[in-house]
Amino acid sequence: MDLRDKIRALKDYPSEGIIFRDITTLLKEADGFKAAIDQISDLRDDEVDVVVGIEARGFIVGAPIAYKKNCGFVPVRKPGKLPAETISKEYALEYGIDKIEMHKDAIKEGSRVLIVDDLLATGGTSKAAVELIESLGGIVVGLDFLIELEGLPGREALKGYDVRSVIKY
Ligand code: PRP
Ligand code: ADE
Repeated sequence: MDLRDKIRALKDYPSEGIIFRDITTLLKEADGFKAAIDQISDLRDDEVDVVVGIEARGFIVGAPIAYKKNCGFVPVRKPGKLPAETISKEYALEYGIDKIEMHKDAIKEGSRVLIVDDLLATGGTSKAAVELIESLGGIVVGLDFLIELEGLPGREALKGYDVRSVIKY
């Protein structure tokens, strides 16, 4: 199935000049959601211990990928949401600045981690997640995305890492 046709594009959201790729139109259809998860899962068959998903859209795609690959799921969250001791990292977005957090005990030293998110734009979010995972001793096997915006430097920001994506704009 060509998922591209099911993703809605909105001009100037959330700010002028941004073309927002809205995956809700894809996910609301049973066959669209299934195909999206299957196609992300098929991007690689490396051995993985844990999938890390980034709040919020990264949870929608990351958790089913962890289930399919028979591994654990670790949430990276926006500030103030995780109850135990956390580490955090600030990063720049295509449209602003944000911060992400992860539990200090979320990743075992030496565990093989796959980062999954819906979309790669500047790479700021996922690079911050890489830094958090590595600071805990995790090995980042790669980063898998449903969508990659090729006009932005996401892949460059993640140079040296195995970045894969299903749909490229
Ligand atoms: C979006 C998207 C990625 C990130 C990509 O999340 O889901 O996580 O931006 O951008 P980047 O490559 O420039 O860092 P957003 O922060 O909008 O939050 P959401 O998932 O809660 O909608
Ligand atoms: N996150 C960062 N940039 C985005 C875009 N253009 N569309 C949807 N999500 C995004």
